[in-house]
Amino acid sequence: MTTAAEVPPDLVVDFDVYDPSLAFPVDTVQERVAELAAKGPVVYSTAHGGHWIVTRYKEIHEVLRDPETFSSYPNNLVTTTAGFGKFIPIELDPPEHTGYRLALQPLFSPTRMKALEDDIRGVVNELIDGFSGKGEAEFIAEFAHELPTRVFLALMDWPIEDAPVFTDATDIILTGVPGASEEESNQARGEAAFTMLGYFQNMINERRQNPGTDVTSQLIHTEFQLDGGKRLLTDEELNRMFFLLLIAGLHTVQGSLAWSVIHLANNPDRRQQIIDDDSVIPTAVEEILRIEAAVIPGRRATRATELGGFPIGEGDQLILMLCSANRDPAEFEDPKELDLYRLPNRHLSFGAGAHRCIGSHLARIELKLALEEIHRRIPDYALVESDPPVMHSSQVRGCARLPIVFTPER
Ligand code: HEM
Repeated sequence: MTTAAEVPPDLVVDFDVYDPSLAFPVDTVQERVAELAAKGPVVYSTAHGGHWIVTRYKEIHEVLRDPETFSSYPNNLVTTTAGFGKFIPIELDPPEHTGYRLALQPLFSPTRMKALEDDIRGVVNELIDGFSGKGEAEFIAEFAHELPTRVFLALMDWPIEDAPVFTDATDIILTGVPGASEEESNQARGEAAFTMLGYFQNMINERRQNPGTDVTSQLIHTEFQLDGGKRLLTDEELNRMFFLLLIAGLHTVQGSLAWSVIHLANNPDRRQQIIDDDSVIPTAVEEILRIEAAVIPGRRATRATELGGFPIGEGDQLILMLCSANRDPAEFEDPKELDLYRLPNRHLSFGAGAHRCIGSHLARIELKLALEEIHRRIPDYALVESDPPVMHSSQVRGCARLPIVFTPER
């Protein structure tokens, strides 16, 4: 493993991706990461026992597409759910990864995504109904957290009324308990994970005994190509998959919805482009995804190698700053500019290679429908100067609180 002493001193930094101060004010992470990218394609941080930070598009793409050299386990520098084991499929490497990935594919098939679209538009409008008459909202609690939670339940064919079970638990797992010690937060995280796993197990038991035509029943009752033979998924595997599906699709979409509102409220000219012609929304969604990538994936080198001209040692950990790859001037013209018509837009927000986000189409549908309905119903939303957005920062960046005001709907 590489130590800081072996790295040229100008490439050694103390950047800690888990430092809460990175979340305030809104643009701090991007500014700090741009400073790192200016130093080189890879820099070495002394945080968390030492690890590399990959900052540029080319090298990040290279790492994402080479799972043999760069393992996905562990994907995080810190363990937030101690003792839970590997997340499936995100922390498995090919060929082990392949069977699980194929098992999940039917959940996200184009026909299924199309079928979910009407349900999602219904949820979007129902949530907006909840606050549109008030002229103000806390956009995260009243919309951006609720939408992906309910979409997850719809995706799994589980009762949407159960959304409250997940709302609190998922917040605690991501951000801990506000104001509590790290130890208390970790205990609360364990309890929240326990609640969700209990819910998953009930669903598994129910659909094992009474299979329906729903996707969860299909997943439980289909044999997949795993460990060199065909077999059913075990309860433990199903639990780990469900847990990942819930977590992966939640704070990422929540953050992207919040960034949409923040960037467009701060760029009224751009917002007007959407209000005037909502056919720009699909490319606008890509641009929001590009300008603020939510995820910072982790990798571990399985052998000594070289990246961006630097020797990487076997066992070294790396984090991939997708948010800076997406602002790399070698790949994007005027990368800091929010250009809703940007084409091509080969951002890396959904990753690349074997683990490329399997929920990317679902995420795009959620963002598209949300932007359509928000701009149709409350188009003049503005941030509240005295109560600014509260961001959160770790290996998933996003927004925890976002007060907005707008002309109430009659
Ligand atoms: C804006 C929203 C989203 C963003 C930015 C995002 C981003 C990502 C990224 C970067 C990866 C690759 C991580 C890596 O290589 O280590 C990933 C993987 C994954 N995402 Fe998403 N995601 C989003 C929404 C969703 C949704 C809605 C779901 C499902 C409900 C989902 C499920 C998954 C799963 C299961 C994986 C693992 C795939 C694998 O390992 O083969 N994501 N996502």
